[in-house]
Amino acid sequence: MALINGKEYSQLTILKMTSQLRTLMTIIRDQNTKRNDFIFYADRINRLLIEEGLNLLPTRDKTITTRTGEVYHGSEFNGKICAVPIIRAGLSMENCIREVAKKIRIAHILIQRDEETAKPIFYKSWLPDDIQERYVFILDPMLATGGSANATINTLKNNNVDEDKIIFINLVSVPEGIEAVLGTYPAIRMITAEVDRGLNENAFILPGLGDFGDIYFGTD
Ligand code: PRP
Ligand code: URA
Repeated sequence: MALINGKEYSQLTILKMTSQLRTLMTIIRDQNTKRNDFIFYADRINRLLIEEGLNLLPTRDKTITTRTGEVYHGSEFNGKICAVPIIRAGLSMENCIREVAKKIRIAHILIQRDEETAKPIFYKSWLPDDIQERYVFILDPMLATGGSANATINTLKNNNVDEDKIIFINLVSVPEGIEAVLGTYPAIRMITAEVDRGLNENAFILPGLGDFGDIYFGTD
């Protein structure tokens, strides 16, 4: 649960701002950080986010016998997952989720913001046939106006994915984007590392970090 502009969002988790996370966020936001450090530390935050996302998956009871012959009453994950990185910046999170989820399927959605209007332009999606049976992790490090995330969720819903099976993993968000996404799709769940002040006149996040995709992939 999180409070954004006086409104409670039960479906939003903001990572606990530990001294470790504050330090990692400072490195990736710093204009003097070199690209290889940006990649390394953004990947570390992405890993924290994805681990938090996995905590939202359902489990069922499982009893096993340990190597000492004793019984252990434990649990196992109950349900398959599919990650949906929004190309391009979301691709930066793909390896992180592959490292922790062995049988995962990866879908891709190609959406780009128009640089003039900041409106999302949908180009193409590649989705597995059984996506509606899976828990779907949307991966995108930046949430600004919410246009790209909403276009992605709309595509998933058109492919029969239930809203309550969608978990949006995001690194930096703003109140405008959170309200746009969770106001439109109240049953999805979202995890973010930090909520920034807001957007500038070009719909860029402030204080933000710049264009995530350009820094991560070296096209700035
Ligand atoms: C960025 C980012 C999000 C989107 C967020 O992508 O990765 O997808 O902008 O903005 P929004 O919430 O206003 O839609 P962009 O389209 O710039 O492409 P990139 O991933 O290639 O940087
Ligand atoms: N996309 C980015 O990479 N950065 C922003 O500030 C907004 C959208």
